[in-house]
Amino acid sequence: MADHLDAFIENLQQRIFDETREAFGEVGFQRWRNPRYRGPLDAPDSRARVTGKCGDTMQIFLKFENNRVCDAAYLTDGCGSSTVCGSLAAEMAIGKNPDELVAITGDAILEKLGRFPEEDRHCAFLAAETLQEALNRYMIDRMKTK
Ligand code: FES
Repeated sequence: MADHLDAFIENLQQRIFDETREAFGEVGFQRWRNPRYRGPLDAPDSRARVTGKCGDTMQIFLKFENNRVCDAAYLTDGCGSSTVCGSLAAEMAIGKNPDELVAITGDAILEKLGRFPEEDRHCAFLAAETLQEALNRYMIDRMKTK
């Protein structure tokens, strides 16, 4: 009985993996399996929280050193797609200066993914919008302290 149950669960898990790989593509699937850069981040230099039209909320945390992102993280209460996109946005931010951060758009995240379900593409734009909001706040704080 236990063997049957184990086989059933293993089979089900494999089916979920296959379907997710098919939907997200290889890059998205690997990130879904291992969502790196999950936050929060202690004492970030900037953070932002944006709720998308879908009702999901994304948070991005940034730490800077010498005007470049030295650490970044995301948090979301959304779906697997928003996890994938938040994780990629955080990864893409690391090492970038403000000028370079501006180039991290929803399209740039989708390009990095290569393939992503049409109905989940908005998750990439929510991640990018949140990242840009965190950058805005960082720039405003910098201007205040000058
Ligand atoms: Fe809302 Fe993914 S469905 S961010």
